[in-house]
Amino acid sequence: MNLAIMASGRGSNAAAILDAIANDHLDARAVALITNRENVGALDVARAHNVPSHAVPRRSYPSRNAQQRRMLELLQDSGADFVALAGFDAILRPFIVAAYPNRILNIHPSLLPAFAGGMAPVPQTEALRAGVTISGCTVHVVTDDLDAGPIVAQAAVPVLPGDTVDSLSDRILEQEHRVYPLALRWFAEDRVRIENGRVHIQSEESQALWPHPAP
Ligand code: GAR
Repeated sequence: MNLAIMASGRGSNAAAILDAIANDHLDARAVALITNRENVGALDVARAHNVPSHAVPRRSYPSRNAQQRRMLELLQDSGADFVALAGFDAILRPFIVAAYPNRILNIHPSLLPAFAGGMAPVPQTEALRAGVTISGCTVHVVTDDLDAGPIVAQAAVPVLPGDTVDSLSDRILEQEHRVYPLALRWFAEDRVRIENGRVHIQSEESQALWPHPAP
């Protein structure tokens, strides 16, 4: 797997993925980190892991289309054959999705299809507002339907009395860092079959993860 990561923020998921590669838990080569922002933590994460990084800010391009054309060019020039969105806050244009069919994953901080559509911390805020007692995160295949592609893996966490957006986000994030490298590993090891919008994994491991120790 020649993996490109696309990120817009602090980059903790990018770090978890790159750590998994460094520790031989994920057999992949990180070929690029692409961001649509300047001066974000994700760029430092890439530098720390010696991964070529590219900032493609909106203001340097005449349109969003042109900006994403450049991103696609960078993906292709890097030799990427797989893409992980890790806190990427723009919606991919269909021409990027089509260039990597079933080869782009995203992580979202809720148990999809609940609380789809927003960027962190909106899903966590909505979960608290709704009063759910279990939340979590979802790794899914990116399609043209926002946050609605086939679900690869989910990790659940309890919502505890007195939780704030920050405390719930931290609890979810810990599971994100566990589930994202695992989901990528299934693809890297060619254990994934996608049929009728469902993801099937040839593995003893479960696509449903619980926090350990169990709450
Ligand atoms: C993560 O919580 C991720 O699930 C979320 O952004 C955060 C990025 O954190 N993604 C979304 O909200 C996608 N809609 P990070 O920059 O530390 O990886």
